[in-house]
Amino acid sequence: QTPIRIGLLGAGTVGSQTARLLVENGRELGSRIGRPLELTGISCLHPDRVSDPWIDRSLLTTDSEAVCKRSDIVVELIGGLEPARSLVLTAIKSGASVVTANKALLAKFGPELYRAAEDRGVDIYFEAAVAGAIPIVRPLRESLVGDQISSILGIVNGTTNYILDQMTTQGLGFDQALGQAQEKGYAEADPTGDIEGEDAANKAAIMATLAFHTELGIDDVTVEGISSITADDIAVATAEGKVIKLLAVARQDADGVSARVYPALIDKDHPLASVHGSFNAVFVQTQAAGDLMFYGRGAGGAPTASAVVGDIVTEARHIAQGTTGPSISPYKSLPLAPLSKA
Ligand code: HSE
Repeated sequence: QTPIRIGLLGAGTVGSQTARLLVENGRELGSRIGRPLELTGISCLHPDRVSDPWIDRSLLTTDSEAVCKRSDIVVELIGGLEPARSLVLTAIKSGASVVTANKALLAKFGPELYRAAEDRGVDIYFEAAVAGAIPIVRPLRESLVGDQISSILGIVNGTTNYILDQMTTQGLGFDQALGQAQEKGYAEADPTGDIEGEDAANKAAIMATLAFHTELGIDDVTVEGISSITADDIAVATAEGKVIKLLAVARQDADGVSARVYPALIDKDHPLASVHGSFNAVFVQTQAAGDLMFYGRGAGGAPTASAVVGDIVTEARHIAQGTTGPSISPYKSLPLAPLSKA
C-alpha cells in the first residue's frame, strides 16, 4: 500500500514530541488507518541542534518548501505568522491537508487559510491550537453544531494559570512563578504574549469563530493580561473567597458576537476556580446541552502533540477512505453572525 506522507515543519517542543509519537506509535496507527504512515521530512532552522534520539537525522532539513511539496499532510508547528502562513498556503496549493497548532496564525489569517483549503479541496485541522490536549475545537466544530452556544468561558493559557495559581497557593512572586512556567515548557519562546493575554485572545478568536459561525479575528478581541496583578490583589481576592483567573470569554447575545480576555475575579465554588497549575478548562453554555466543561492539560510538548497526532490520524483516515473532513461553516457562503464590541 502507498504510504500517507507526513511532513513536519518545526522541531521545537511540540514538533519533537509529535515526531516521537509518530515514531513510537506510527506502525500501529497505520494498521488502524489501513495505510502506513511515513514521516518524509522534518524542517527546522538548525538541524544540527536537534538531538532527540527518536528523530532520524536523515529526515532533518532546512528546506520547508520541499517538505510541503512532498507530503500528503503538512504539520505546521513553527508558530508565528511568517513563514508559517506562506508555508501553509504552499502546502494547500500542493494539495496537502494541513494540521497546525498555530493559534496566532489562525486568529489573524484563519479566513484566508480556511477558504484556500476549501477551494483546493483539502482540510485544515487545528485541535492543538486551543487548550493543548483538550478536545475543544472538534466539539465546537462538530459535536455541538446542532445546538446554540450562548457563551464560552475559558482558562486557555497554561502559563498565566500556573503563575496565578502559584502566587495564590504557594505565595510565589510573579517572576519566580513565570520562571518555573518557562522551565516546564508551558510558556511561548517570548512569554510576553502569554502574560499580556494575546495568546488567550488568539484562542478566544478561534473558539468564537467556530462557536458562532462568524469571522472574529485577533483584532476584534478586547485584551487585558496579568502583568499588573500583585500579591496584594491575590490576598484581597482570597480574603473575599474568590480567585483571580485569566479568562477568555466569547459570547453571542442580541448585540452580536464579542470576545474578551481579562483577569476575572471568580467565586471559589465556580468549577473554573479549581483549575490549578498549567491546566486549562473551557466552560461552554448551550441552549440544549446545558453547561459543559472541558478540562485537561493545555500546554506542554507531549499533551499538545497528542492533539496534533489525533488530527493527523483523522485526516489520514479521510485520505485512506477518499472522504473529506468537516467544513468550517462560515466559509461555505452561509450568513455570518454580526460582531459587537465586548
Ligand atoms: N504558551 C501557551 C500556554 C502554550 O501557556 O498555554 C499553549 O498554547
